[in-house]
Amino acid sequence: MKKDIAYIEKLNTLLASYQLHYQNLRSLHWNIKGQSFFELHLKYEELYTRTQIIIDDIAERILSLGETPISRFSDYLSQSTISENEIIHDGKTGVSYILGTQENILRQERELLTISGEKDDEGTNSLMSDLVSEKEKTNWMFRSWLG
Ligand SMILES: [Fe+2]
Repeated sequence: MKKDIAYIEKLNTLLASYQLHYQNLRSLHWNIKGQSFFELHLKYEELYTRTQIIIDDIAERILSLGETPISRFSDYLSQSTISENEIIHDGKTGVSYILGTQENILRQERELLTISGEKDDEGTNSLMSDLVSEKEKTNWMFRSWLG
């Protein structure tokens, strides 16, 4: 595949966004209070555990393309489309954050799905395809939870 800086930049932005999301999920897991504590404390853990695997998959995909994944927190902060959260105790606020963030990340993945298809970059294309369908499903679940 021909070198394309803008393409790798988009993959790194996705990586950075997942890194911020990961830390926000850890914070949700620690700070949840109220009647949904047991349910959401576990759900948040499931999500950050999955996010950790996705982060590694994206970074290693960038390496497989012969490029370098960003790895410094300062770069994550400047490139992420997701911001750091304040502490959130409330379950509905936490789940709304997750839904909004997943929609943001889903837009990036759909764009990368299209571009990787045009480039015949099958590895990235199949990774994005899996991430898109996974998020479409979990977004439905978060929307249903919110009512
Ligand atoms: Fe824990």
